[in-house]
Amino acid sequence: MARNKVTVVGAGNVGGTTAQRLAERNYTDVVLVDIVEGLPQGKALDILQSGPIYGYDSQVTGTNDYADTAGSDVVVITSGSPRKPGMSRDDLLETNQKIVGSVTRSIVEHSPDAIIVVVANPLDAMCHVALKDSGFPRERVVGMAGILDTARYRTFIAQEVGVSVREVNAIVLGGHGDTMVPLPSMATVGGVPITKLLPEDRVEAIVQRTRDGGAEIGGLLKTGSAFYAPSAASVEMVDSILLDQKRILPCAVHLEGEYGINDLFVGVPVKLGSKGVEEVVELELTDAEKSELKTSADAVQELVNVLNG
Ligand code: NAI
Ligand code: 2OP
Repeated sequence: MARNKVTVVGAGNVGGTTAQRLAERNYTDVVLVDIVEGLPQGKALDILQSGPIYGYDSQVTGTNDYADTAGSDVVVITSGSPRKPGMSRDDLLETNQKIVGSVTRSIVEHSPDAIIVVVANPLDAMCHVALKDSGFPRERVVGMAGILDTARYRTFIAQEVGVSVREVNAIVLGGHGDTMVPLPSMATVGGVPITKLLPEDRVEAIVQRTRDGGAEIGGLLKTGSAFYAPSAASVEMVDSILLDQKRILPCAVHLEGEYGINDLFVGVPVKLGSKGVEEVVELELTDAEKSELKTSADAVQELVNVLNG
């Protein structure tokens, strides 16, 4: 059986770590691409040389040439510029729109059947760029954010209650930004809702810390942002797709009427399998949760308006 092929675009912190985690999974070859000469080649060789120690045979190739990405099953787009001093949010949006747009077009030229997993920020807006510039159906363009935000939420709940993270089930909906919607009503520890285990102010504090999760790490690192959990989240999506696991995971998906939202990428639970997004799962939300999701969707819409403007 031919091995799978995953391309990771952007050999920075998230891309490099994603390539490493994928190689260690030992079921797919990995191609790492960047515009910087030497960076993807050096990281790829370093990851490849871990194979004899870790016991994997994944081939890992670093390149600046999209011809090497041909025939990829999945492409993870992590290429993006960080916000520089003096740059407005809209400037950043425009810069990353150009990067994600050109990357997407190069990918499509060589891998017309790939499934694209978008990671670059601002996440939900970049998903729109990838969808439009690829011309792919919505099943094959999906954004990573909800798994990361949910992992942060589950970590904080587990710490507060004093249990293993594996006992915590939870979900975060909405856009990947300040308005994301961690749902207390659907967060449970061993099946018991956290609203019954924790006082309201502690639940609120956990929800807020989750919303600020990316900023908390960015503030500590001073330069750059989180990449260990983001790469783990990206690989969970690739696993579900390539191993056809049909996991139900919170991801950014182009909604077409679901949740009362149309023509917008927003984070909701989806079934991920070999065809990409195989189903959008509609949770029953309270009126308050619906209204929070709408506020979050409106924030995504504002960014999309800038893209279209
Ligand atoms: P980084 O700065 O370490 O790496 C970005 C890489 O992209 C650099 O190596 C750069 O040379 C490369 N690049 C820039 N333009 C390119 C192009 N046209 N073609 C190919 N490569 C190009 O950044 P990091 O930490 O790896 O983050 C990557 C992106 O992922 C950022 O936009 C970041 O905000 C986003 N991110 C998103 C998360 C999410 O939850 N969706 C979580 C963490 C990061
Ligand atoms: C994060 O949430 C920066 O989006 C990135 O860590």
